[in-house]
Amino acid sequence: MLSILYFPPGRGKNLQSDRDIRNAPTILFRNQPEIQGAGELSDGDWHRVAGADEVEPEEPKKVMIGDEEVALFNIDGAIFATSNICTHAFASLCDGFQEGEEIECPLHEGRYNIKTGKALCAPVTDDLDTFEVKVEDGNVYVKL
Ligand code: FES
Repeated sequence: MLSILYFPPGRGKNLQSDRDIRNAPTILFRNQPEIQGAGELSDGDWHRVAGADEVEPEEPKKVMIGDEEVALFNIDGAIFATSNICTHAFASLCDGFQEGEEIECPLHEGRYNIKTGKALCAPVTDDLDTFEVKVEDGNVYVKL
């Protein structure tokens, strides 16, 4: 159940106490499916994120799915997707250096295996999230 406080025009600004808020008119939506907004994505949805020809070998490409930063990699013509944010600190892996199946973080040179997300060397210790990818009719889809 989702509850939304509704304040008629000009009334919300007069609420001054917890009691006023408790007594404010409320609209209730019962048994409604969860409303999806920015950053709220259900599991298992496929998202078209790029054309296959936009993901060049050795040139990681950042795409956004909702609020999620995803990195696309081309390894020998096959496309893989991982989280774009390094697990060590906040760095964009797409600004790093791809060499074959490995991506090196541009900030402290931690490395990951792109196919598995496995952290390969210090300072990174936590693996990256990886996502399923499919290519259909020249379009890249990521499941998130
Ligand atoms: S932020 Fe990536 S290794 Fe430190």
